[in-house]
This record gives sequence, C-alpha cells and structure tokens, in this order.
Amino acid sequence: MQNNFPLRALNTLGIDAKAHAYVQLTSLDDVLAVWRDVQSPQSQPLPRLVLGGGSNIVLTGDFPGLVLHMCNKGMMLVNEDEHAYYVKAQAGESWHQLVLWTLNQGWGGLENLSLIPGSVGAAPVQNIGAYGAELKDYLHALTMFDFETGQISTLSNADCAFAYRDSIFKHALRERAIILDITLALPKHWRANLTYPELAQALQADGIHSPSAQQISDTVIAIRRRKLPDPAIIGNVGSFFKNPLIDANQHATLLQQYPQLPSYALSDGNFKLAAGWLIQQCGWKGKSIGAASVYDKQALVLINCGGATGQEIAELAAAIQKDVLVRFGVALEVEPVFV
Ligand code: EPU
Repeated sequence: MQNNFPLRALNTLGIDAKAHAYVQLTSLDDVLAVWRDVQSPQSQPLPRLVLGGGSNIVLTGDFPGLVLHMCNKGMMLVNEDEHAYYVKAQAGESWHQLVLWTLNQGWGGLENLSLIPGSVGAAPVQNIGAYGAELKDYLHALTMFDFETGQISTLSNADCAFAYRDSIFKHALRERAIILDITLALPKHWRANLTYPELAQALQADGIHSPSAQQISDTVIAIRRRKLPDPAIIGNVGSFFKNPLIDANQHATLLQQYPQLPSYALSDGNFKLAAGWLIQQCGWKGKSIGAASVYDKQALVLINCGGATGQEIAELAAAIQKDVLVRFGVALEVEPVFV
C-alpha cells in the first residue's frame, strides 16, 4: 500500500490528483489480503475507489480514501458448445487487447466494440457500447468480490441489470463490487452487425460488401481515430454525456422547431437524441472553461487541454447541461462517474 499516490497517469482525463492510499491488485489473494486488512479493528474506515483503466472517471480533487487498482491478467477459452465460444478474461486486461485477441483466434462478436479505452473489469460497469453493439450482447457471466460481505459470487447477464451505459455496478453494488473476471459468449454462427448507418456507409465506401469481423474491426478503429481523441495524447473519457431519451410528444414538438434534429425511434415509442448535436447547436463545440474544452470534432467529448482540474471539467459540463436544458428542454445526464 502506498500513500499520497499520484493518479494522473491512471485516469485518461489526465487530472492531477492524489490518492490518500493506493494498492495494486494482481490476484484474488491480493484482494483478500486488502479486505482482511480493512476488517482489522485498527484500520480506519476509508472510502474506496475500484480503478480499472481510469477511462470513465472524473477526479474532482484528491481522493481521501483507498484506491484499489485491478491489474490481474489473463484471457483464455474456457468452454465451447454448438452456439458459442466462452472466453474468460481477467479484470486487469485491456478491453481492446481482448477484442484483438478474440479476432485473431477467428472468433467474431466484439469487432464493433474495438478501440474502446479501458479495462475488461470496467466494461460491465457502464455496459460499454458502440456502433450498434453493447457488452450486454456478449457477456455470459462475471465473477465479483463483495467488499461489504467478503463473498465471491458469480453474476449472470440478467443479474447485472444492464441498460444503456448502466448496470447494477453503478447503483446497488457501487463502491462495493470488485469485478475479478468476465466470461463472454462469442457466437459460432457469426453475422455482421451493420445496424449503425455510419459503419455500414464506411464499409461500403471502401468497397467492402460482405465484411469479415476483422474488416469491421479495422473500419470501427478508423472511424474512432477520425472522430475521437486518443486519450494517450489528449485527455478525455469518451462521450461525456449519455444520449438523452425523450417521449414521442416532446420529440414531435422539437422536430417542428428543429427539422434537422437527429433522433432514433426506440421500440418502446420513445426517441433517443444525439447529445453531440444539441451541444453543438448551443455553440459549445471547441469552447473552453479554463483548460477544459469541448472537442472540436465531436461535441459529446470534453477534453483536458493541459492542466485542467476536475472542477473545471465539472463546471464546463454544468454550463453545457444548463444551456441544453434552457434551449431544448432536455436534461443531459453525465456518463462518467465523478469521484
Ligand atoms: N453530432 C453532431 N455534432 C457533434 C457530434 C455528433 O451533430 O459534435 C451528430 C452526428 O452528426 C450524428 C449524431 O450526432 O448525427 C451521432 O453522432 P455519432 O455517430 O458520433 O455518435 P454519438 O451519439 O455522438 C455514440 C456513443 C459513442 C459511440 C458512438 C458510436 C453515447 C453517449 N455515445 O456517440 O460512445 O462510440 O455512438 O456508436 O452513446 C462513449 O460512450 O464513450 C462513446 C464514445
């Protein structure tokens, strides 16, 4: 365990903050050892933060508690049946390396989720998604350690209560669960998922009509590189807001006022709006508060231009939320977790 540990290199926004205490965990034994320490009567109760790739957190100041950094490694085929390959990956693996490894084995499924920053253990927390796919479409089960009870348990896909950028780990199990590993079911009867128009168009433009999983991955990587800043170069956490959901009445009213409004009809009768469009209409694209800016190629992404504080990022986010609410009557919900 280390004290006053710098977290700047461990969060993709690149916020300069320190943890009161920090420990790297590379095995279940490490997790159990920390848990036993924390249970001892001499130990002070401290807030906990489970850290993966740090690609979905905003550090609003120094963290006054214990950071548990999951660094356990390994990925392997654990089973197969007529429907699927079952692949288990440890929480500390990089998500994108897992995607590449499965594709190299010839197992399709994860290609639409290529190049998403972050760790395997963080992927279920916000049910990562992109280009018409979500983790929930492939997650078979996961193993977690409950820091409140000291129990290890297996959660099924249904137990995780996945929704759009949401899961039980953001609610009932927040600050409580340490995800140890996940098991994915990758379909043996693979079919390309080209439901996201931008992806289908990009493949067509390259003259690819019946793409392989590898070709889809390559195309997704190219689109992401074009539109999203590389966190290794420009600090960011991907989309900063969720795309908001509105009902049919509000949609009809907005559409009358803004005929260009991009929206997607959902099966439940509601509509999903493009938060990036709403933010751009409010004039925020490329604008800054201090060293926190709205990315000039994608208004849904907030970036650290160098030395931004978590407070500046939070201020910028709040100013955007206020303007979007006033102009469109739509409340934008923040996607990353504020710590
Ligand atoms: N748009 C604008 N201006 C902008 C940005 C977007 O007008 O500055 C419009 C685009 O023209 C398009 C629409 O918004 O009509 C959608 O844009 P895009 O396809 O780039 O996707 P998004 O809705 O902005 C979502 C996810 C991304 C994911 C992409 C692709 C959320 C919150 N974000 O972004 O996820 O990669 O779709 O599936 O759902 C992430 O969660 O970190 C993330 C990057």
